[in-house]
Amino acid sequence: MRKKIVAGNWKMNNDYNEGVSLFSEIVNMVRDEKKGDQIAVICAPFIHLNSLAQLSSGVVKIGAQNCHQNESGAYTGEISAKMIKSTGAEYVIIGHSERRQYFAENNQLLAEKTVTALQNNLVPIFCIGETLDERNNGSYFNVIESQLEEGVFGLSAEDFAKVVLAYEPVWAIGTGLTATPEQAQDIHAFIRSKVEAKYGVNAADDTTILYGGSCNAKNAPELFAQADIDGGLIGGASLKSRDFTDIVKALN
Ligand code: G3P
Repeated sequence: MRKKIVAGNWKMNNDYNEGVSLFSEIVNMVRDEKKGDQIAVICAPFIHLNSLAQLSSGVVKIGAQNCHQNESGAYTGEISAKMIKSTGAEYVIIGHSERRQYFAENNQLLAEKTVTALQNNLVPIFCIGETLDERNNGSYFNVIESQLEEGVFGLSAEDFAKVVLAYEPVWAIGTGLTATPEQAQDIHAFIRSKVEAKYGVNAADDTTILYGGSCNAKNAPELFAQADIDGGLIGGASLKSRDFTDIVKALN
């Protein structure tokens, strides 16, 4: 089912105590603002997952920012989906543009990671989005279509239904240069049309598509008012409890 979700991506921020303190503030604030079946998630560095899961009291869900594609083995420094699940986390970001850029994660590897996440009953937040060059040269529709085709369209309809998509124009991430509501809606509608072509109209209607890229308390209301934007994947603003909570409040 289509869900209203605001997920914070802390990225590589907050030591142990900073994370506990910030998360506790977020839980206390979100508790008073989140309505009905809306979902708030914090995707934190691995060191935080279990401690935050114990503090969440069901108000804010926990997610990881990556997982290895294998179940276990000689992969020094890596974390498996099974390990993430064992902490109490329920979500995992797959294919964030920073992992694609800095860790050479391609669509094929991300497809494998998505399957492993699903096999371990985690909700994948699968990221897609174009770079500034791809935006400027007009190839962004093709790029996004390839990321979908190669990343998640190999899944069964049943498994795809468990995936949350996140459109994050790379040129808007951390730049303060947010996509306009019209630009974002245009791409979200395109993504939904591709889901419909692959899995049918009901699957498309049920797919949750988040927007990420300099989403903040000020621009969230207009972004979330768009027909095909179901919430946000929030970076910088998730590091401030008031800002993150105001973005949750903007869900309608
Ligand atoms: O995953 C969300 C992130 O990439 C967006 O970052 O700081 O532009 O909200 P930011």
